Amino acid sequence: MKKLGVLSVLLALASPGLADDLLAPVSAMLMAQVTTPPLFRERCSGCHGSAAAFARKSLTLRDGVLVGNPSGRKVADYLASHGGLAPGEVPIVVDSLTRTRIEVSTEGK
Ligand code: HEC
Repeated sequence: MKKLGVLSVLLALASPGLADDLLAPVSAMLMAQVTTPPLFRERCSGCHGSAAAFARKSLTLRDGVLVGNPSGRKVADYLASHGGLAPGEVPIVVDSLTRTRIEVSTEGK
C-alpha cells in the first residue's frame, strides 16, 4: 500500500470492484473531504445555503478558474474582501468550492 494508507485499504475492502488505478484518486477525494475544515458551513452558508446549491447556482469554472455568476469575478479575488475569511483560509474555501462545482456538474451523468 502506498502513501494513502488506511483509507485506501478500507476503500479496497469496501469496493472490491474498484479498479486499482481509481483507488488513489478516490482516496484523495475522500481524504480532501475529511480534512477540509467546515469553513463554508460555518462562515458562508448562513447567507448562501449549502455549498452544493451555491456552487450549482452561483459559480462557474472558466478555464479551471472559479468565477462568480454573473459578474465573472474570480472567487479568490472576491473573497479577499468578502466573507470575512483570513488570507490563509481563502485558498481552502476556493479549493473546496472548486471541487464542489466539479462534483455538481458531473451529477447525474
Ligand atoms: C452576510 C451574508 C453573507 C456572507 C456571510 C457571505 N456572503 Fe457571499 N454574498 C452575499 C451577497 C448578498 C452576495 C451578492 C452581492 C454582490 O454580488 O455584491 C454575495 C456574493 C458572493 C459571491 C458572488 C460574487 C460574484 O462574482 O458575483 C461569492 C463567490 C460569495 N459571495 C462567496 C462567499 C463565501 C465563500 C462566503 C464565506 C466565506 C460568503 N460569500 C459569505 C452575502 C454573504
